[in-house]
Amino acid sequence: MTNMKNSNFYKKTAQALGTPVFIYWEKRLETNISRIKQAAEHHLANRELGIYIPYFTNSNPYLFSIVRKHGCGIAIQSTEEWHQLNAHNLADKLIASPTVLPQEELKFLLEKGVRVNLSSIDEVEWQINNFPEKNIFIRLDISVDSSQRTGIKPWEITGLRKILKKNNKALAGVHIYVGTLSTFEKIVKYTDIVLALVSREFPEIEMVNLGGGFYYNYEKTFNQHFDWDAYFAMLAKKIGTYNLSPNMKFEIEPGRDVFADVGELVLSIHHVVWNERGTICQIFTDGSYVYMPSATVRERKHQLLFLDSQFKESSDRSISGWLNGSTTLSSDFLLPVIIEVPLDVKSGHFVIVKDIGAYGATQHLEFLNRRPAAEALITDNKVQIINERGAMTDKIRSVPQKPIFIK
Ligand SMILES: Cc1ncc(COP(=O)(O)O)c(C=O)c1O
Repeated sequence: MTNMKNSNFYKKTAQALGTPVFIYWEKRLETNISRIKQAAEHHLANRELGIYIPYFTNSNPYLFSIVRKHGCGIAIQSTEEWHQLNAHNLADKLIASPTVLPQEELKFLLEKGVRVNLSSIDEVEWQINNFPEKNIFIRLDISVDSSQRTGIKPWEITGLRKILKKNNKALAGVHIYVGTLSTFEKIVKYTDIVLALVSREFPEIEMVNLGGGFYYNYEKTFNQHFDWDAYFAMLAKKIGTYNLSPNMKFEIEPGRDVFADVGELVLSIHHVVWNERGTICQIFTDGSYVYMPSATVRERKHQLLFLDSQFKESSDRSISGWLNGSTTLSSDFLLPVIIEVPLDVKSGHFVIVKDIGAYGATQHLEFLNRRPAAEALITDNKVQIINERGAMTDKIRSVPQKPIFIK
């Protein structure tokens, strides 16, 4: 249930910036970061834990300045991301956990002092040859059938050892990625596999990066977050079981869990059409799936709030309906399922799509030519614009007035 204060923020933002508009709540971001930090401090005692939030999860520099303010670093995966963060003076605490990179990108990141988790044996050799002074960090694919698109496979480790020995180098760290929306059980399993491998093969390394992928439950209305307390208790126990060096540091790269409930999408309802018996309605909004193409891996099972024209929440949800987007595409539904809507839903009301802070605005599709929505940040009692609404011609921003002949 939304309170008066939040209602006023929805009203102020929608009236000032129009809809669709993304709203982010600074307090929630701070709470999500401190939940992780507190659980880590409690269970890992003095062992160092680096938290690096992947930039592409949300991609708004203002939200990442909050991330930095709270001591977390940022995980990147391309040179564009470095430039975007650098443009906002946020390139000071970065790591790169990319796929196999084109050589010029790898070179650029290493020259900028970004530690790169190398994804292939070729990259390891290339770094040794071109940046012999730099430490070697690798990304490992420890999936059951070595099926991940990227990462060094366990059966390549013997070859890796030979290369390291020949060049008189030691491995400095390993990184894994479990896969987004991984269950607690899957995360425990992968943690076990990587720590067993590290204690057996590389007990002297300084860093283990356990990546992201921590489950967030979109279908629940409370307790949606990953169980960080249980996670760090599990990690501490396994560190003991494998007798890992007290100097070994750990890192994580949570994206979804940190940003999901920080963001909401506010839409206007401009039309409601009922079926013949008045039992099901088509609600037409100014939104579209292009504003949130696959935030929860295509199913988009988000909770919704319905607000009347005075931004008061309607608690009645006794009717079924479809939430339509505003493009001609026949499959343009905000959520691809029948939803429960208030009996009095009508034009001039609003709908809020919750939990869209991760993989939401950042995934905006240019397909269908809708300009990007504005983004606003609520801090204490203020609303700030942190991304202006796109221009009508954004889609053709790089199309020259006349074709350019290449000489
Ligand atoms: C290397 C890496 N780290 C972290 C993440 C973040 O994952 P999540 O948002 O599921 O926590 C991703 C997501 O794809 C990733 O590829």
